Amino acid sequence: MERIMCGIVGFTGEGQAAPILLDGLSKLEYRGYDSAGIAVKRDDSDRVEVVKVKGRLEELSKKTNGGHAVKGNCGIGHTRWATHGEPSELNAHPHVTEDGAVVGVHNGIIENYVELREKLQKNGYSFYSQTDTEILIKLVDYYYKKYKVGPIDALAKTMVRVRGSYALAVMFRDYPGEIYVARKDSPMIIGTNPEGTYVASDVPAILRYTRNVYYIGNLEMARLTREGATFYDLNGDEVTKKLVEIKWDAEAAEKGGYEHFMMKEIHEQPKAVRDTIGSVLNAEGNVDLTAVGLSDEDIRDISQIYIVACGSAYHVGIAAQYVIEDLARIPVRVELGSEFRYRKPLLDPKGLVVVISQSGETADSLAALREAKEKGVKTLAIVNVVGSSIAREADSVFYTLAGPEIAVATTKGYSTQLVACYLLAMQFGLVRGALEESYYHELVAEIQTLPEKIDRIIEDKERIQWFASKYAHARDVFFVGRGIDYAICLEGSLKVKEVSYVHSEAYAAGELKHGTISLIEDGTLVIGVLTQSDLYEKTVSNLVEVKSRGAYLMGLTTYGHYEIEDTVDFNVYVPRTDEHFASSLAVIPLQLLGYYIAVARGLDVDKPRNLAKSVTVE
Ligand code: M6R
Repeated sequence: MERIMCGIVGFTGEGQAAPILLDGLSKLEYRGYDSAGIAVKRDDSDRVEVVKVKGRLEELSKKTNGGHAVKGNCGIGHTRWATHGEPSELNAHPHVTEDGAVVGVHNGIIENYVELREKLQKNGYSFYSQTDTEILIKLVDYYYKKYKVGPIDALAKTMVRVRGSYALAVMFRDYPGEIYVARKDSPMIIGTNPEGTYVASDVPAILRYTRNVYYIGNLEMARLTREGATFYDLNGDEVTKKLVEIKWDAEAAEKGGYEHFMMKEIHEQPKAVRDTIGSVLNAEGNVDLTAVGLSDEDIRDISQIYIVACGSAYHVGIAAQYVIEDLARIPVRVELGSEFRYRKPLLDPKGLVVVISQSGETADSLAALREAKEKGVKTLAIVNVVGSSIAREADSVFYTLAGPEIAVATTKGYSTQLVACYLLAMQFGLVRGALEESYYHELVAEIQTLPEKIDRIIEDKERIQWFASKYAHARDVFFVGRGIDYAICLEGSLKVKEVSYVHSEAYAAGELKHGTISLIEDGTLVIGVLTQSDLYEKTVSNLVEVKSRGAYLMGLTTYGHYEIEDTVDFNVYVPRTDEHFASSLAVIPLQLLGYYIAVARGLDVDKPRNLAKSVTVE
């Protein structure tokens, strides 16, 4: 199935289509980049030329000589971000019918693809790829031929039959120079200029050619010709649209209007978390790990869990340790990939090694996975990039649905890994009888409230921005918390230091007085995280200890704990949730803090010095 983050571009007009498609797709690579393809048609030929590659757009450009090797004035292109179905040339778009009558690209997800595939198979269709897009294109072809109707009617019949979301662009062999598009819940815009008509998932793809766009509405279709676009509703009746002038500059447009990818990705967290949770919830509202590849028998057999990861993913592991041990009552050990791989670990043969990685390519995590496999221990990967090395090599995979993460500092990657771990903990707890069914259902309901709560925290970002500007030139920051709050501190501290270059450290609050407290001077910023009610008083005492040595205190706790204002100098509240899920909410102000300090210091937020997005060397 194809999910939300793919990029579509189409053009029909005076110039050659392929170079325009490649250029447009290059502006959409932030929407996905595991494979790409174009389909181009010449007016004087019956044949549509389709060129596809696995890998980044660069490969497609090489294969087509920058597009110049593919001739024709009308074409569609696609850059893919797989969430199901390996990235491969076969799964790459465009998809085409056997006789070449219909060819198309799609961004979105077709929910009833199984039923549609069966229907088409009964009618003589066969399938070469694992994608729902191929099914969608062949369904258009089926209605087009069965009812002998025009493209708009064939699309309308398809839209009525399909459940899910889509931005779809299709070319019909019998209609040269024309592109037909349809949209439901996935982004799509149409642009025009005297040279031709363009369609794209997002503005940056066509900004170089035109600033005049139409926004196609939900459940609407359009016919694109060289002269312009005509819009239709589901009944096939024409709809009138107004041209809108885009005023953004190209760079801002690529970042969806945000100044940096990091801020854009912070804002994408509610959706990424919602999608990840939704991917393993069944119609009855229970967690179903079948797609992950874990049966109840597998879960009952686990004697011990070893979580292995690096950086922020390791911090997810620390939080998960508390949650899994508490909810599922399985012993958990968390290790850095770089330590695990050389430690000659003694692993219980009935254990489960869980490797967490956004990129799926981190060298130390990958080596740790191989080490575990060599020792014959079962492995589970929590990975964002489909088809990445860790995803391919692990025995089973829980894919997070964060979409492509561009900023080096992870935000939505981290948040989706966290919820994946909660879901595992809940299901493990239920299956192993460690969790009361009623509490399990409360947790299922509560976890689904996280996206909206994250949204509320982000909305209140100005307060953090103000605080960040005040502390932008701090020399040191110390984060302190206990239990899950300690795990939150680890991530908050990394977020601050990696993007703002302010020295920061995270401590288990009780550890501070074993040495580090000697660093506290007048005005040193200490951030206390206090979301765990049974540890609240203890951490408050530790805050008082540093305050009496001159520290300036920020307290991060949940609404209701207003008495914190008697102790701290600056307070931040997050909504209440089940305390096992607290990391998901408390981390958001800390991501914002790191971001705003870096911006206030005028730093390159998305690409901090000395760092790489994916650390593929040890
Ligand atoms: O791709 P991975 O999740 O395996 O990456 C692990 C770390 O390199 C990553 O989390 C790193 O610490 C980030 N810069 C944190 O923002």
